[in-house]
Amino acid sequence: MATEVLQTMTGEEMVALSKKHTLFEWSAQSKVDPIPVAKAKGIYFWTPEGKRFIDFNSQLMCVNIGHGDERVIRAIQQQVEVLAYANPFMATEPRARLGAKLAAIAPGDIDCFFFTNGGSEANENAIKIARLATGRNKILARYRSYHGATHGSMMLTGDPRRWAAEPGMPGVVHVLDPYHGLERGWETAQQSLAMLEEIIQLEGPHTIAAFILESVSGTNGVLVPPDGYMQGVRELCTKHGILMICDEVMAGFGRTGEWFAINHWNVVPDMISMAKGLTSAYVQLGAVGMRRALADHFKDKVFYGGLTYNSHPMGCAAALATIQVYEEDRLLENTRKMGAVMKELLQNLQSRHPTVGAVRSIGLFGIVELVRNRSTREPMAPFNGSSEEMAALGRFFREQGLYTLLRWNTFFTNPPLCITEKELREGFAIIDRGLEATDKAVVG
Ligand SMILES: Cc1ncc(COP(=O)(O)O)c(C=O)c1O
Repeated sequence: MATEVLQTMTGEEMVALSKKHTLFEWSAQSKVDPIPVAKAKGIYFWTPEGKRFIDFNSQLMCVNIGHGDERVIRAIQQQVEVLAYANPFMATEPRARLGAKLAAIAPGDIDCFFFTNGGSEANENAIKIARLATGRNKILARYRSYHGATHGSMMLTGDPRRWAAEPGMPGVVHVLDPYHGLERGWETAQQSLAMLEEIIQLEGPHTIAAFILESVSGTNGVLVPPDGYMQGVRELCTKHGILMICDEVMAGFGRTGEWFAINHWNVVPDMISMAKGLTSAYVQLGAVGMRRALADHFKDKVFYGGLTYNSHPMGCAAALATIQVYEEDRLLENTRKMGAVMKELLQNLQSRHPTVGAVRSIGLFGIVELVRNRSTREPMAPFNGSSEEMAALGRFFREQGLYTLLRWNTFFTNPPLCITEKELREGFAIIDRGLEATDKAVVG
């Protein structure tokens, strides 16, 4: 029945009506040109007219297990039939089982979770917990970061999406990353940590509640930190009584080949925020996990936080089924294997296309940075901007049925973790052809 209702509209009607009555994100509405989507399976999705797209961004880096998995669909159906909702003061079986399961897979002694509707709310609650537990106010965050669009998370966000919401929540201090863009490149872990320690000193360590950082920064460039950086951040935080919060909303749940990206550096943060891959977006759910000592703070003190949909049974049931799929299908292992193939394919692009200035990847989390000038490394589009060449590349991908995110001078390669080598090569063949046109714009 539901399918019939969905299939009564043409793609054109879906777009026109959606544009008329709903707002699209981060865009001037006259400029949006959405793809109408009717159905999805595995790594593909289709328009109502049957045009197929290979989903090279797992939608918004979230459908990690792939589309239309029957096991998760059945778990959601079964849950809704038994108990669609119970308020968050109650205990339910999916809530109990998911808390215990996450405690088993989270790093170190992180074994207590507060469930939210998504990543922004997970980060809102992380900073709330940090402030309550430390009695301090300031939060350090990085410039090349995205932490969400709700009021506080928007202020944690370092990238230009923050600008329009300022002035917002006070008390956030932004610090630089080890990465300084295509033209300036990377600092060493030691240089970046020295800068961080200087800022901690200048701000007053006793005023800083937490440092929030993406373990691998996502939309700001799949920035894999140099070895030693995360360990150094952990040491500095411990030394100054500052809580370390890893935002794993995008990097978590297998994307990098580990349950959580921070595992690559054997570091245990004080809190970890998650969403997206937690349910593979079949139903919305986020969470903030905390170490035992932090959870114990709220044994006798009130946790001043709440949400009507906290621990929603549908979200928890979907997360449990999703985690089971990661395990049954050995998706972490597949990500490591396919990640090695993808690394080669990315390097191959770089060796053959003058427009490819940098490639980075970890697991199935990948990005390509395009340059206009090989010698100066001028990006193909300016910071926070676009260019005709990037727009043309986007149009080519769309015509050829490859969906991915293009941002400034970059585009992403973040397919679902169930992808096969053949499918991966299918996507890269389209990218390869697309870059031939972009190459023509390169000088130097
Ligand atoms: C690293 C990171 N943190 C937080 C968020 C916000 O999550 P949500 O959009 O579910 O609120 C995102 C979303 O893209 C993200 O990538």
